[in-house]
Amino acid sequence: MKAFRGEILSVPEDPAVAGAEAIRHFQDGLLVVENGLVLACGYHAELAERFAEAAVETLEGLIVPGFVDAHVHYPQIGSIASHGEQLMAWLERHIFPAEKAFADRAHADAVAAFFLDELLRHGTTSALVFATVHAGSVDALFEAALARDMRIISGKVLMDLGPEGLRDDVASGRADTEALIARWRGRGRLGYAVTPRFVPTSSSEQLADAGALVAAHPDVLMHTHLSENPGEIAFVAGRYPEAADYLDVYDRFGLVGPRSVFAHCVHMSDRALGRMAEAGAGIAFCPTSNLFLGSGLFDLAQADRHGVQLGIGTDVGAGTSLSILHTLGEAYRVCQLRSASLDPFRALHLATAGGARLLGITDRVGALLPGQEADFVLLDEACTPLLARRCAGVSLHDRLFALQVLGDDRAIAGTWLRGRRAWSKAD
Ligand code: GUN
Ligand code: ZN
Repeated sequence: MKAFRGEILSVPEDPAVAGAEAIRHFQDGLLVVENGLVLACGYHAELAERFAEAAVETLEGLIVPGFVDAHVHYPQIGSIASHGEQLMAWLERHIFPAEKAFADRAHADAVAAFFLDELLRHGTTSALVFATVHAGSVDALFEAALARDMRIISGKVLMDLGPEGLRDDVASGRADTEALIARWRGRGRLGYAVTPRFVPTSSSEQLADAGALVAAHPDVLMHTHLSENPGEIAFVAGRYPEAADYLDVYDRFGLVGPRSVFAHCVHMSDRALGRMAEAGAGIAFCPTSNLFLGSGLFDLAQADRHGVQLGIGTDVGAGTSLSILHTLGEAYRVCQLRSASLDPFRALHLATAGGARLLGITDRVGALLPGQEADFVLLDEACTPLLARRCAGVSLHDRLFALQVLGDDRAIAGTWLRGRRAWSKAD
């Protein structure tokens, strides 16, 4: 048994729904961990005696739950900051050529290792990750995640209408998916997501097959892109004129349900959002990506009117940073442009417990509640002179907001997985 003493903050429920009650803050707190799980989390003064036998480590900084990245592409890490186009042309020019290289398993292994080490350095402990069309790209990521004890959900990308050299077919897509689920089920902290890339790159037959795979495996997620870019949306409407909207195309193939995660959702009708809420499906809000590709401004207030589940995604390589702190700052700016105001406690919730709920891992991580895995991050408000100056003597609300607006990987002092230090700035 061990314990960590310091200032602890977590936001298990959405403050927009649950109010200030949702915020758990212990100025002098104690996080007690046994076998990698949280045994207790509260005030040091109330817990110290009960857990007197625990070895105590004192941490200087703000302890928060490990971040959950609800949408990111590991094969695109080297393509970040590729200049010039919007979605469809950007995919053709920069992304598809980079993803073709993942036919080589050694390349996939090297990129997966780099990517996961970068996630830890940025304080991200759980993620829902796009691989490529190649089954080996998933094996590479899962092996590297297993070695690091990270909570990673991924899946082979289904794209039978993809470009030459980057497409599967209905039968191989199904066979590879089934084999990967069988090979990785129940191992470490891994999870599988059936992953059709998006409507333009899959045939109707493959989308129907993806729906059958999701129905056949109650423990898998469904992960895809939805309504990101006006050109993409027009293309989908042209192919499926009978559908009510883009979401309805997925719906017709059994891909809209409580285990469905849709990245972006920038241009949504009230009908589609109502249907998502009814189905229990959720959205990964990816602000840096939406700005970088000029996709548009996500409408948080509209999603909230329908009560749709939300998480935060970096969407690297269209996203411009793996830092969830930085991404929350950008989320704030996007909401400002939509005349909405994103509260910093709510932002932290979306990036931790909210993301965990979206990914179906809310019983495991996200809030440092007893029984959850002890994945946490130590934030350093003194990491830059400006941040230190802005945070001195102000409220927790203001410090947290400053960390989101001014902070990034520099503010991560250390990252712990199941109570074990997985990365430290001091090393
Ligand atoms: N839509 C389909 N594929 C992609 C991708 O790789 N990135 C983004 N941002 N959108 C997509
Ligand atoms: Zn994406």
